[in-house]
Amino acid sequence: MINSGTKKLYHIVTYGCQMNSHESEKIAGMLTNLGYQKTDSPEEADVLAVNTCCIRESAETKIVSNIGALRKLKAEKKDMAIIVCGCMTQQKPLSQRMFQRFSHVNIIIGTQNLHRIPEFLEETLETGRRTLAIEDDALKIYEDIPTERYTKPSAYVNIMYGCDNYCAYCIVPYVRGGERSRTPEKILAEIDRLTDDGFSEITLLGQNVNSYGKGLPESLSFAELLREIEKRGGIKRLRFMTSHPKDISDDLIAVFKDRKSLCNHIHLPVQSGSSRILKLMNRKYDRDHYLKVVEKLRAASPDIAITTDLIVGFPGETESDFEETLSLVKEVGFDSCFTFKYSKRSGTKAETMDGHLSDTVKTERIMRLIAVANQEMMVKHKSMVGKTYEVLVEGAHTEKNQVFGRTDDFKLVNFLGPSELKGQYVSVKIRKGMKNSVFGELV
Ligand code: SAH
Ligand code: SF4
Ligand code: F3S
Repeated sequence: MINSGTKKLYHIVTYGCQMNSHESEKIAGMLTNLGYQKTDSPEEADVLAVNTCCIRESAETKIVSNIGALRKLKAEKKDMAIIVCGCMTQQKPLSQRMFQRFSHVNIIIGTQNLHRIPEFLEETLETGRRTLAIEDDALKIYEDIPTERYTKPSAYVNIMYGCDNYCAYCIVPYVRGGERSRTPEKILAEIDRLTDDGFSEITLLGQNVNSYGKGLPESLSFAELLREIEKRGGIKRLRFMTSHPKDISDDLIAVFKDRKSLCNHIHLPVQSGSSRILKLMNRKYDRDHYLKVVEKLRAASPDIAITTDLIVGFPGETESDFEETLSLVKEVGFDSCFTFKYSKRSGTKAETMDGHLSDTVKTERIMRLIAVANQEMMVKHKSMVGKTYEVLVEGAHTEKNQVFGRTDDFKLVNFLGPSELKGQYVSVKIRKGMKNSVFGELV
């Protein structure tokens, strides 16, 4: 039996995006239902789950080596069950290789088998049998998986899964399957349960939330879904991730104009400032379209914070393409930029394109991009000095007696305060603006 009366512990290592963080909460929920409790120490765990990401090669290589290193831990604690799941495992050849090489791993499952963790775990504990289960067609939605939430009063809610966009560089459609939306009834019922339980910040998750609703029997657009959610009481901060610039509708922009709980922030990944590269990336918009969307968003909500993702060194990117990215970053003045060096992913369209660039060129470009992005961020952060913001406290740096949290428009704020403030909304007056955050004091 799994729970024989003594305390059984689980530990989860999570890599990747918000989608994965939320799936780890589901793994935690299933393990809690089986009688396990959370531990922060992998050495103590009876069940250790590694929830993986494969968006870039560097992440994947590191994760594979970390999984290999668990062999030592397992040798010291022979009855520990090790589970590997998440996007990386959905790549069949890699999973098969890991299953052969890593005899210390009990269970390797793909992104479509998360709900079967209890079943596979029970089997491995009872019979010692190892499991490798990767489904080919990733098209179903599994509802009602129990979920442990560790970030109260903030909660993630999936509104859709998968992606149909096939950006030339990206592996997500291959490992997460095609786009499918949850029904509005399921989403709204989950949000109602969360607000009844005292959650007040909701982040809606999807790879491209703007195409929410495609394929549902009755169609409801993403903007309509947001309005439905806004009508509900109890939510103070409504956020979403991620929206694709190609399908951002005027109706969605209008929700920002008369927003209620919707936060004054949008994450709108541009990837490149060069229309030529955007075309090669299969992004289906050009530089002018992106700038127009930014203009409309700012007309609807003048102080809206706009954050973005940028890739440097896509195959064939010339110095002048890259300079267009630099000039776009200056022109928009992003509130925050997440910058990445292009990484070749197996099976994607870009893998076989001409003109792959050396790491030296990519490194040189990303450094220049970061310098420009930091300048823009510094300007934004300095403009906050002297003003007071409501901050939801997310965590603490106890050694410095500091806590940190976010404003409505997603700015990271640090200030002196006790860790007990975690989960509370407080007022903070900003004293100093740095490149990545601001520093303030409780008022
Ligand atoms: N669905 C989201 C992004 C998910 S991946 C969206 O479209 O916005 C998060 C970011 O990782 C992407 O926006 C992109 O900037 C980056 N990324 C994806 N694949 C990459 C690759 N092969 N190399 C480098 N960066 C990549
Ligand atoms: Fe990847 Fe593009 Fe889909 Fe985002 S929209 S997950 S970048 S294929
Ligand atoms: Fe997220 Fe990484 Fe998968 S970014 S969708 S966990 S490949």
